[in-house]
Amino acid sequence: MSAASLSFAGVRVRYPGTSRDALGPIDLRIAPGEFVALVGPSGCGKTTLLRTVNRLTSIDAGRIDLDGVDSASLDPIAMRRSIGYAIQATGLFSHMSVARNVAIVPELLGWDRARIAARVDAMLELVRLDPVRYRDRRPRELSGGEAQRVGVARALAAAPRVLLMDEPFGALDAIVRRELQRELRRIVAEVGTTTLFVTHDVNEALRLADRIVVMRAGAIEQCAAPLEIVDHPATPFVRELFEAEDAIAELRAAARIP
Ligand SMILES: Nc1ncnc2c1ncn2[C@@H]1O[C@H](COP(=O)(O)OP(=O)(O)OP(=O)(O)O)[C@@H](O)[C@H]1O
Ligand SMILES: [Mg+2]
Repeated sequence: MSAASLSFAGVRVRYPGTSRDALGPIDLRIAPGEFVALVGPSGCGKTTLLRTVNRLTSIDAGRIDLDGVDSASLDPIAMRRSIGYAIQATGLFSHMSVARNVAIVPELLGWDRARIAARVDAMLELVRLDPVRYRDRRPRELSGGEAQRVGVARALAAAPRVLLMDEPFGALDAIVRRELQRELRRIVAEVGTTTLFVTHDVNEALRLADRIVVMRAGAIEQCAAPLEIVDHPATPFVRELFEAEDAIAELRAAARIP
C-alpha cells in the first residue's frame, strides 16, 4: 500500500454529555509521506484529533478524506487495517508472543503464513530487536522500551497508508527515546508512510517532524515547519511553548555560558 494523503475540513468533535466542542473546527491537509507532529498542552485535543482518523472517535461535523475519499464512506474495520496505530501504553496482548502481536493485522488481512513469518522478522529487525531472541517472548518479558518497539513494529506490519502514533515513546528515558526517534525517522523514510505523531515533547517534535501542528483548546494555533515555528512563532502561546522546553538554553542563560 502506498502512503495516503489526509485532509481535515471543518472537523468538530463534541463528546456526549459535554457542552462545548473538544475539537475544531479543524482544517488541515497532509501530503502523502509527510511526517506531522501534534503538540500542545494536556487536554487540547491531540488524541481526539488522532482518533478521528481511524474513527475510534466519531466526528460531529466536517469531513476527513483519505486519498481524496470521504472516510465516512469507508468500512471502518477495513479502513483501520490500513492505518497503523501505536499508543504509549503499547496495548500489546499479554497472552500472545511478540511475533503474534506483530502479526495481528497481517493475519486479519489473510496473508499466508510464510509471508507473515517473514514480515514479522523483518519488522522486528527494523526496530532493532533480534527476531531469534525476541519473537517467542511474552510482553511481560520485555523492558518498557522493547515493548514500545514491538508496538511500533506492530503498527507498521501491514505497511499502513497512514501511521498514527500517540506518545509512543512517552514512558522512555532520554537515551532510549533518542535512539527510537532516530530509528523511527529511518523507518518512516524507508516505508514512506504518512505519519501523525502526538507528543508532549516539543524537542521530539522538532527533531522528527516535517511539519508541526501546535494545538490549543481544540484548535490549531500554528501549523508550520519546525524552523518556521521556532523562528516565527505565530502567537505568544507558541513562542512560550517552544521556549519553555529549552531548559538547556535557560540554564546557559542563567549561568551566562555562551
Ligand atoms: N470520552 C470523553 N468524554 C468526554 N470528554 C472527553 C473524552 N475524551 C476526551 N475528552 C475531553 O476532550 C478534551 C481533549 O482530550 P484529548 O484526550 O484529545 O486531549 P490531549 O491533547 O490528547 O491531552 P493529553 O496530552 O493529556 O493526552 C479534554 O478536555 C478531555 O477532557
Ligand atoms: Mg492524549
